[in-house]
Amino acid sequence: MMLKFVLALGVALILADPARAADGKALFAAKGCVACHGDDGRKAMAATPHLAGQNAAYLLRQMTEIADGVRSSPPLKPMKPAIDKTTPDERKAMADWLALQPAAEVAAGDAGKAEKGAILFEEHGCIGCHGMDGTKPLADYPFLAAQRKDYIATQIRAIRDEVRSTRRARLMVANVRKFTDVEAEQLAEFLSQVKRK
Ligand code: HEC
Ligand code: HEC
Repeated sequence: MMLKFVLALGVALILADPARAADGKALFAAKGCVACHGDDGRKAMAATPHLAGQNAAYLLRQMTEIADGVRSSPPLKPMKPAIDKTTPDERKAMADWLALQPAAEVAAGDAGKAEKGAILFEEHGCIGCHGMDGTKPLADYPFLAAQRKDYIATQIRAIRDEVRSTRRARLMVANVRKFTDVEAEQLAEFLSQVKRK
């Protein structure tokens, strides 16, 4: 009876890849990511994205592209030394763990601006890739709902101006090309107030 149990436990541990599952959280702390992105990837510093509850495949691609310098807008400079000290396996462990954490609480904001942002989101084809209200992205695309307002606005401008110009970011340049900075802010106001279901 005992032997059977021990054998079953052994098999279960091998299948679950315990090193990976357990280490995402520890790595995120040990590599200094918490300093800017907050405990468990929530409560991020100003202009820094929440990572909790984000799509795992998307997170992993960003970490890889930031490490490789493919995504390299100026606000990423302070993060580069931290991500450079991670291996591909460690990034995968952190991405998988972060994706399982509950998303951040939404921030209260300006209802009038948010309403304008909601209309822009509908009229400019954002739903096709990011889902209704930014809550249901395609396979390896990002959730936008409940992300930090200042971070979203910066990204819309960076993608529009082709400062953030990765292969996938270029897919949406046509959708954002005509936005003014004020419209980028309205979109950010809206998305930062949408609760993640
Ligand atoms: C010094 C602060 C700082 C540290 C430390 C830091 N980051 Fe970042 N991180 C940022 C900022 C700021 C951005 C967004 C910059 C931009 O593009 O505007 C970012 C962006 C990201 C993104 C992209 C998110 C998205 O929605 O596209 C990921 C993923 C990420 N960081 C993971 C990590 C991991 C993992 C670590 C630890 C190895 C880490 N970061 C350490 C500041 C930091
Ligand atoms: C054709 C598909 C597509 C459309 C349409 C699209 N996006 Fe995106 N969007 C993407 C992809 C893919 C990414 C991630 C790019 C990457 O991997 O670097 C992204 C990234 C973003 C980001 C950055 C998220 C982060 O965490 O860094 C924001 C903000 C954003 N989109 C807003 C919008 C808005 C607003 C619209 C409508 C005006 C829109 N997108 C339309 C595909 C799309």
